[in-house]
Amino acid sequence: MLDIHSHLLPGVDDGAEDLEEACQMARQAVDTGTTGLVLTPHCNIPGGFQNPWSEALSQKLADFRQALQRLGIPLTLMMGAEVFGADDVAQHLASGRALTLNASRYVLLEFWTNDHPGRVARVLDSVSALGLVPVIAHPERYHFLEEDLSLARDWVGRGFLLQLNKGSVLGSFGRRVQGRADALLRARLAQVVASDGHSPYQRTATLHEVYVHIAQRHSRAYADSLLRDTPLRIVNNA
Ligand SMILES: [Fe+2]
Repeated sequence: MLDIHSHLLPGVDDGAEDLEEACQMARQAVDTGTTGLVLTPHCNIPGGFQNPWSEALSQKLADFRQALQRLGIPLTLMMGAEVFGADDVAQHLASGRALTLNASRYVLLEFWTNDHPGRVARVLDSVSALGLVPVIAHPERYHFLEEDLSLARDWVGRGFLLQLNKGSVLGSFGRRVQGRADALLRARLAQVVASDGHSPYQRTATLHEVYVHIAQRHSRAYADSLLRDTPLRIVNNA
């Protein structure tokens, strides 16, 4: 499996606190069937984590790769970002301050859970206008999606990808979020499931449990597509 949304890069956001925690999370991922993972630190959050792409981040990535090699943990690390869809986000993507997923045309975008659908639409338009494909992070957590799958259908119709969090599917964010995740799965509107892993203790970077859940409740073919095939397409820019 391939995980396109994770907070393992140590000490840069609310994810792994240090290299030791990051390696622990990587070990858990490998032990449960993940072979590759895109590091997606929070980026461009108004009043929050900024993480513009920099020499310092690049060094952290190199250190993390080296540590995995030293420990014999066979996990391919790719770089990306969970970019907050602020009004000026297109500018930051165009300049390379905010990264796409593994330098592809796919960009992982998050919004406030109580964001305004009109503002979200404007931001998505501005990102599309750059020729980039929005991968909308955890839409099941957005209140403005409630009971309104027509918005999700519209996004999918425009070629955007919807990425669900494993925790949402498994019920860690409550029944409402789980209900929305399930509705998106039943309608086959979700195209990717990722860990959004933040720590080795809670919100881990493992995917096997959600794979089994989806294979049993929906289908094995859909689980393969959500956790392996579409993520692979994204990181290969296909
Ligand atoms: Fe995240």
